[in-house]
Amino acid sequence: MDNGPIGVFDSGLGGLTVVKELMKVLPNEDIVYFGDTARIPYGTRSRDIVTKYSAQSIRFLLSKNIKMAVIACNTVSAGSYDSLKTMFDLPLVGVIEPGATAAVEATKNKRIGVIGTTGTIRSNAYTYSIKKKEPEISVFAQACPLFVPIVEEGWSNTGVAYLTAERYLREMRKQQIDTLVLGCTHYPLLEKTISSVMGSGVVLINPAVNTARRVSELLSEMQGLNDKGGSISYYVSDFGQGFQKIGSHFMNEEITAECIDIEKY
Ligand code: DGL
Repeated sequence: MDNGPIGVFDSGLGGLTVVKELMKVLPNEDIVYFGDTARIPYGTRSRDIVTKYSAQSIRFLLSKNIKMAVIACNTVSAGSYDSLKTMFDLPLVGVIEPGATAAVEATKNKRIGVIGTTGTIRSNAYTYSIKKKEPEISVFAQACPLFVPIVEEGWSNTGVAYLTAERYLREMRKQQIDTLVLGCTHYPLLEKTISSVMGSGVVLINPAVNTARRVSELLSEMQGLNDKGGSISYYVSDFGQGFQKIGSHFMNEEITAECIDIEKY
């Protein structure tokens, strides 16, 4: 038994998609969430900068006595996981491996699409992870950088989102995939739009779902489950991004965040 909190971090509010799944699977866990709203987006930045920002996020979460860190951000998980692993003596769970596993299990025709930020797609992390599990699977990847600002603007299910998705997914639609990995924290919020563009024959994979299961398994293995928690504390590095407003809407409850100076960590 370990009643310490689970730390979850992301470049902004998108990582709440992972918090939501964790709450379903592990309702007795306390969660400390950090969204680096001062420095979002990570998806267009270099790997070194993303690693540096992520290390600061983990150091901040460690000040809250976390027992494990969940990297909710796909860009961080894709490019910086290995470096972070060597820097911290702490169980670290990323979203790539669980997302890739879910996609491999879902595909029947062995043709999988992956969409994500420029950083995630450039890293080839999903392709590598999928092909490591099943080399004969064909993977088609596409960066969709405009999806993040569309979600942040609250335009997820509008004509703008639909037209953008249609443009980005034009080539993907020709590849006869039957499974598409939503390889970015924000994309599950565009699920309806993406599904209407891709058609009902394509299964959409939200890596957050399998990530939450992985966290649960790992805590059981570590004998680190909490038996009396259930609280969530939210921290951000800047209030400018409307974290509380959009976050409250997404979490279906009023959330209050505390702003911290991430440069101290
Ligand atoms: N959280 C990022 C991801 O999942 C998306 C937002 C960003 O670019 O920072 O890749």
